[in-house]
Parts: sequence; C-alpha cells; structure tokens
Amino acid sequence: MAGESTELYSDWRVWHGFQINRILNYKAFEQENYMNKPKIAFFDTRPYDREFFDISNRDFGFEIKYFSPHLTIDTAAMASGFDAVCAFVNDKLTSGVLDILESSSTKLIALRCAGYNNVDLLAAYGKIHVVRVPSYSPHAIAEHTVALMLSLNRKIHKAYARTRDSNFTLNGLLGFDMYGKTAGVIGTGQIGKIVAAILSGFGMKVLAFDPFPDAAFAGEKNIRYTDIDTLLSSSDIITLHSPLTPENKHLINDRTIAAMKRGVMIINTGRGKLIDTKALINGLKSGVIGYAGLDVYEEESEYFFEDLSNSVMNDDVLARLLTFPNVLVTSHQAFFTSDALTNIANTTLNNIKTYFDTDKCPNEICYQCDITPCRKNITGKCF
Ligand code: NAI
Repeated sequence: MAGESTELYSDWRVWHGFQINRILNYKAFEQENYMNKPKIAFFDTRPYDREFFDISNRDFGFEIKYFSPHLTIDTAAMASGFDAVCAFVNDKLTSGVLDILESSSTKLIALRCAGYNNVDLLAAYGKIHVVRVPSYSPHAIAEHTVALMLSLNRKIHKAYARTRDSNFTLNGLLGFDMYGKTAGVIGTGQIGKIVAAILSGFGMKVLAFDPFPDAAFAGEKNIRYTDIDTLLSSSDIITLHSPLTPENKHLINDRTIAAMKRGVMIINTGRGKLIDTKALINGLKSGVIGYAGLDVYEEESEYFFEDLSNSVMNDDVLARLLTFPNVLVTSHQAFFTSDALTNIANTTLNNIKTYFDTDKCPNEICYQCDITPCRKNITGKCF
C-alpha cells in the first residue's frame, strides 16, 4: 500500500493538492450537515436536563441552546432563529406565546413530558406541530405514588427527622395495614395500571374508574371497575392518574370530598388542577381527609423546581397546605429517575430528528380527533 501511494503521488505537489481538496470537501460536508441540523431552544433548563440531553445528543449532534427561564410571553422571543423549542410541564404555551414562536419561524414544539395541558392546542393547530414523550417510565411515577402512600401512612418523613434528633419515641407515628384495605385508582392508563397492580400485590382490594375501562387488565390483576361515586365512598386510599382535561378540572372538590370515607388518603401525582386545593384544605380541617400526598399543585409553576427557602411564601393556599402534619408535598418529582430522564432525552431528540427528517412524527399530539376521518391516520400528521 505504502509503495502504491508513493508511486501514485510521487509528485508531492499533486499529493499535497489532493490532501487540501480532501480537507476542504470534508469541511464543506461538515458545514452543510451542521447547517441542516435543526437548532433547538431549550427552556426551563435544570442541571440534570443538560446532563442527560448532552449525553443523548452525542448521537444526534443538534445545536442546543439551554435557557434557564420558563417559556412565557416574556421569554418567547428568546426562541427567535431556532427551528424547535423544547418545553417542559410548567412552560406556558398560550396562544400569545405560540404567535410569537410562529412569527420567529419555530416549526416544532418538542415537549419533554407526557402531559400537554399547558399547550393551547387549538391555537397551535395549523401553525406549529407539537410532539411529546408519551411514555418514558410509567414505573417511575407509579413507584413514587406508592412511596407517598407508604411515607404518609407510616410517617417515614417524621420518623427520619425524629431519629436524626435522637428522639426514638413512637407517639404520633401510628399507621395502618394496607393489606385488606380498599384503594381507588382514578385513571387506568399506563401509570394507573402499574399503581393498581402494585397495590393489588400488597393485598389491597383495588377499585378503578376510567371512561375507557380495560376489562382484560382488570381480570388479570383482580381489579374491579366501578362508577366514580362507588369508588369515592368505598376507598381508604384514592389515587389520581387521569390527565387534566376541561371536564375533570377540580374532580376532587367539596362535593366529591363529602362523598368520601372519613380519614381517606388522597394521592395526586397526576396534575395539580385535578384537585380544588381550597376544598382539600377544608377536607383536611374537617378530618374527612386523613392524609394528602401531592406531587403536583394547582399553582405549582411559580414554586416547583425552585429553591425559595430564603423567600417569603406569597401563596397563602400552598403555605396553609404545608402546615398540616398529615400532608406530604413533593415538587413534581415523580418522574425523576435516571431511567426516565434517559428515556425523555432520547425520545425528545428522536422526535425532533424524525419530524425534521420526514416532515411528520408519530408522537405528534393530535388536536382534531373529533374530525373524521382523522387526517393524522391518513397522512401521518395533523395538518
Ligand atoms: P394515559 O394516557 O396512559 O392514561 C390516562 C388514563 O386516564 C386513560 O386511561 C384515560 O381514559 C383516563 N381518563 C381520562 N379522563 C378521565 C377521567 N375524567 N376520570 C378517570 N380516568 C380518566 O396517561 P399516563 O401516562 O398514565 O399519565 C397520566 C397522567 O399522569 C398524565 O396525563 C400526567 O398528567 C401525569 N404525569 C405526572 C408525572 C409526574 O411526574 N408527576 C409524570 C408523567 C405523567
């Protein structure tokens, strides 16, 4: 081979010219490739987002600009010149924000979450496509749900603080056996099903309510579908796993709380607005609600994911909630496992690649499902 090269490029000037051309061609190829890659404006960035997306992006090579602020009407202009916007649960994709994004040439909104109640889908329709991560680890959320139940029941959060202070007493730490009690699961999609299966494994009687019941699943896991009223009045623990829709906003309210068993435990790892928090506080004060485990809160966008330990709490409802000894709040951390973050980063970047490579994406959110035939089913895209 070496002999061949020497023979071929015996004139060093020819060889030199060939090498320069090769370098120039490679640079042009690299530049063209780089320039064709969509640029991503990434909002509400936390250090762990960056860590997991940077690792995943080694396989995609996108140019990602990480912005700390939430996406709001005041920050939307930061996305100018970017092809895609990557947003999370507390970014506000209102019609005003979507107008700004459209006028600054954003073609895709890539949600790095499953829920999309923070997107005005009607306003996005016909303007900007929206994709999401429909599933990244339903186990992560289901397991956190059960962690909240166990912690509240056996007062693990209090026991931890006590023993750290060399207080080894048991007064006030009394719990109950979950075995043999009744759990009510509202919403039996991916997450609700896993929760139901875990609780069934504990030996609980599991009731479920869902507008689209899965009879095969219920038979297999010994779960009984029922109407919402029966679930509310029979359950010792009620756990929420439905998406937030206009119909089920404040599903847990004064009326539904009045129908519950005295001392019931309510767990919400779904969305904050599924519960009317003022009604929850009334229920806690009256003793109808014995425990509340909340990973989400109606007005969480101002507070969750922030360190406000040196600030004055201006939300009187949240402040009141935090005074109850039988309330455990975590700040939207149910999804927060390394497995879930890896899946979120991989699926989000793959959604962006698929959309820009093929002009469509199977994970696009379908807005017009009441129009038949559904255009997405025919063309693969909503508009
Ligand atoms: P999914 O779409 O698989 O299941 C939702 C289920 O709720 C469906 O079976 C649907 O028929 C049912 N449903 C709809 N309206 C209902 C109603 N009014 N009453 C009872 N059931 C109803 O969704 P998945 O993946 O199980 O997630 C559920 C929700 O969990 C998401 O919409 C999201 O809001 C929340 N979530 C929270 C996370 C966290 O970190 N805390 C992370 C991921 C999701």
